[in-house]
Formats: sequence, C-alpha cells, structure tokens
Amino acid sequence: MEDLKKASQLIDQSASTDDLEKARVEIFGKKGLLSKGFVKLKDLQGDEKKVEAQRLNELKDTLTQLFDTRYVEIKNKEIEQKLKEDALDLTLYQNSHQTAALHPVVETMDRIIEYFVSMNFSIETGPLVEDDFHNFEALNLPKNHPARDMQDTFYFADNSLLRTHTSPVQIRKMMSTKPPIRMIAPGVVFRRDYDLTHTPMFHQVEGLVVDVKDKVNFAHLKSILTEFLLEMFGDVKVRFRPSFFPFTEPSSEVDISCIFCKGKGCRVCSNTGWIEILGCGIVDPNVFKSVGYEDVSGYAFGIGIERLAMLIHEIPDLRSLFEGDIRLLEQFR
Ligand code: DAH
Repeated sequence: MEDLKKASQLIDQSASTDDLEKARVEIFGKKGLLSKGFVKLKDLQGDEKKVEAQRLNELKDTLTQLFDTRYVEIKNKEIEQKLKEDALDLTLYQNSHQTAALHPVVETMDRIIEYFVSMNFSIETGPLVEDDFHNFEALNLPKNHPARDMQDTFYFADNSLLRTHTSPVQIRKMMSTKPPIRMIAPGVVFRRDYDLTHTPMFHQVEGLVVDVKDKVNFAHLKSILTEFLLEMFGDVKVRFRPSFFPFTEPSSEVDISCIFCKGKGCRVCSNTGWIEILGCGIVDPNVFKSVGYEDVSGYAFGIGIERLAMLIHEIPDLRSLFEGDIRLLEQFR
C-alpha cells in the first residue's frame, strides 16, 4: 500500500504535463516503482508470489487510470491557459500603426489621368527604350535639332535611346490605328539633366486627339486644357501664349496665374505673376505625313508631372522627390 500512496501523490502533485512526465518515468519507467516491484517477485514463492503479482497488476491498473485522468485534467488546463494568453484583442488601440502615403508624383499623375479618363480619353503606353524615328524623326524634329544632342539624350551603343518625352506614343498609336484617336500617354521620360528643377528621370502625360479634317481645332484644345487646369488648381486665370514645338503648328505654352501670389508677382513666378504649366498645339502636317494620315485634324499637349506636383505641394527641390527618404512621404500622409 505504501507504493500506491507514494505513486498517487506523485501524480496528484504534478502541476504540468512536464511534471507528469517525470512522474510517469518514476512510476512506470524501466527503473520505476512498478518495475522494481515486479523484479522483487522472483524472491517470492508459491501463493505469496501469486498474491503479490496480482496486487502489482491491480496497482498498475489503478495507477494507469489515475495517471490518465490527471493527464487529461492538466492538458485541458494548459490549453485553456494558452488560449487565454494568445487571444488577440481586436479592440486594442495600436497607435504605433502607420498609414502609407501616395508619392506626390503618383498622386498628381492619378489626378491628371482621372480627369482625362472622365473626358473619354484612352490610356496608351509605349516602350521606354525608343528609336530615333519614333522619338524624333516622325515628330518633325529635324536631324540637327539640339534635343538630339548627346548632351540631352541618353543613347545606347546601337543608337536606340531612352525616350526624352512621351510624344513617341502619339506616333505608335497613330501607326497602329485609324482615327479617331482620343488618348493620353502617362509615363516616365529621361534626359541628361540634374539640378534644382531637373532630374534625369521624370514623368509626363502626353495628349493626342485626332479626327477627320476640320473636326478638331484650337478652340477644342483651349477649352479642354482650360477646364483641366481649373479642375487641378481651382480659382486661377489661364493664359495661352504663342510658342514653338516641332510637332505642332501653331504651338502654345499655357500658363496659370501664380498660385502663391495670386498674380501679384513673387519669387516662384519670377515676378511675372504667371507660371508655365504645359505645351500644346495643333498637330503639324509633317507629323501626320510621317504616319501616313491624310485629311485629318488634331491637337496634342504635353504635361510635366513633377512641375505640377512641386507647385501643388510647394516642394522647393525636385531631386528630393526621388531620394527615397521616407521623411518626404511622411509629410504627405
Ligand atoms: N514633348 C514636349 C516636351 O517634352 C511636350 C509637348 C509639347 C508635347 C507640346 C506635346 C505638345 O504633345 O503639343 O517638352
């Protein structure tokens, strides 16, 4: 009876499955309590041996039952405890949580795209590695045009190049479809430039509308771009100023009244009261000729995204947009 008392105490006092495992080894193990009892049987004879053997077998059954019951008890307790500790409190307020912010260039791009899509423009894309024909030749940029200079353009050894503007997408679109066309081409462009207001990679949105002869004119261009600038900047004056681009004739640059001084004149607008925003014009007949279009009319425009983003967010150094410093983004959250 002594051994039953000792063994059941061992089981009862176990508080964890680890304790219980130790108890199991002490009772049921090779050198355990029961084994020792069974080993001693060989010293006994006859009835005495029989009685002791029966007692040991009953003891083993009793202890096994005790052990199993205790094991289930402890295991359940441990599971319950673990559930309690691991539970997620979904109502817990985590104020270290950080929300992401859109990069100002992406946000500005999105706003521009949204406007033109709402005006029924399709979105077109083209390759970043272009050839001379699409990037220059077909756009009526003559062979001696300074834009072709190694100073401005990134060339590869085979004379292909990184596109210097999104205008080649106009050419690709016109060469792959018939008019009418009503498209924008958002994307990155590359030039060998690096200072306060220039980075070697920047973003543009190109626009092109083509339809049958006389159907598209400067008034349409003026109306859609004015509408666009009012949408982007709110209450501003818009001015179309004669200019020159090889791919448009007539060409125009579009200014808005300075959003910082309201047109009075300040450092940002170099005291002119106006800020230049984009270039545009009526598509030059030479461009249509180079893509094989006849009896059509069209207008085009090109918008620099970084410039807009800088103005909207008052960012003084354009290069900061591409330094990947998280503190820049944190300001726009
Ligand atoms: N491609 C011109 C540039 O990169 C921008 C531009 C001006 C595009 C006038 C046009 C346009 O389509 O009509 O500076």
